[in-house]
Amino acid sequence: MQRKVGITETVLRDAHQSLMATRMPFEDMAPILPLMDQAGYASLECWGGATFDACIRFLNENPWERLREMKKLAPNTPFQMLLRGQNLLGYRHYADDVVERFVQLSAENGIDIFRIFDALNDVRNLETALRAVKKTGKEAQLTICYTISEAHTLEYYEALAKEMVDMGADSICVKDMAGILTPTRGAELVSRLRQAIDVPIIVHTHATSGVAYMTYLKVVEAGANRVDCAISPMSEGTSQPATESMVIALNEAGYDCGVDVRILEQIADYFRPLKEKYIEEGLLDPKMLSPDPRAIIYQVPGGMLSNMYSQLKQAGATNRYEEVLKEVPLVREDLGFPPLVTPLSQMVGTQAAMNVLSGQRYKMVPNEVKGYLRGEYGKSPVPVDEEFRRSIIHDDVVIHDRPANHIEPEFESLTQEIGELAENDEDVLIYALFAQVGKDYLTKRRNPVVEEQATLSDEVVRVYAQMGGK
Ligand code: CO
Repeated sequence: MQRKVGITETVLRDAHQSLMATRMPFEDMAPILPLMDQAGYASLECWGGATFDACIRFLNENPWERLREMKKLAPNTPFQMLLRGQNLLGYRHYADDVVERFVQLSAENGIDIFRIFDALNDVRNLETALRAVKKTGKEAQLTICYTISEAHTLEYYEALAKEMVDMGADSICVKDMAGILTPTRGAELVSRLRQAIDVPIIVHTHATSGVAYMTYLKVVEAGANRVDCAISPMSEGTSQPATESMVIALNEAGYDCGVDVRILEQIADYFRPLKEKYIEEGLLDPKMLSPDPRAIIYQVPGGMLSNMYSQLKQAGATNRYEEVLKEVPLVREDLGFPPLVTPLSQMVGTQAAMNVLSGQRYKMVPNEVKGYLRGEYGKSPVPVDEEFRRSIIHDDVVIHDRPANHIEPEFESLTQEIGELAENDEDVLIYALFAQVGKDYLTKRRNPVVEEQATLSDEVVRVYAQMGGK
């Protein structure tokens, strides 16, 4: 019998997050959702990550309403979201009661699979979200952030995966946010995990460095149950490998992906002109589509390289770029080898730049790095040298237990603070996650400058009818 390999389609979340700063509006998704619902995907990654932020900050969309409308148009395929553990979709640790309410409402509005990760792989930062997902009966997919360092051995990943399964994970995702998982290393990692755990294993990578298709084939051969792909027009470069290409290769190798290739072709036909539109509008820079093997050579995510370069440009110091690049692994070692993912990639990059530009290492230290050294983000993969820690935070108290233990319940006080601008708990969570940006959105919604428009669902029904849909 053919082994089944599921395909998660990322075009509605990670593909546009990685290629065009998460700017795809709902109106570009709506017309194609009914057809996507028939393609046979294992899941549609369609919410979470930066989509929530982009909705309220840039697109003036209610992210909760987007989710409900998507669900109406694609009720049959499991919906998947990316959740940053105790950070939810924001940029700080939230209190447990906020995490619980957020998960509950996400499930009620249509999320079926919660992919939950912590930037440090500190499982204590996953506990509350996991418990909340379990309470809803939805799938809790705990996530290993893949990175390379002397501390991140196969033994480390195996122990981490086992711990996650013991905690109650329904599935395990290996998340290679930087696109640095190479084919042979990927196969070694997955076969090691396959022997250690019984739950489904999902691999997520990016095409950034050019090796992703090979990696996917090898990890599937090694026992991975599902891979993340993006429909061809929105694939490659900093996005995922193309769905159709991967399915063709896997089918030929004897795997059953459960998807209808003819439907995939129609979905690609729909997104092709949209991609051209995004390029014309300047939302999508075609440069993002070329492979950049530097991600593997420097073991620094592509996005971090371009961020560091633009920081240096602002400082008029692009001539120091190579020096900063060399400083990155040294800072990372000082900080106990954190994975270079938000918010650690920004911290490490900024600290490296400061170390070089100020002419003295750790003469200047950002507050976030001090907070990290006080244990506010969780446990570093390798303990930080105590002398180094004290040289930076002096006598500050260091937290050794779960960081959220030190955050008082805050849902009620946030509800009071935002007052009548919030019509329900969903609105309170918009404010909870994004503070002033959330408040601005809620204020603008209350005092719209333009006349009231037709609701999203009216618009969708109209567009879909025009396309000759049912
Ligand atoms: Co990703």
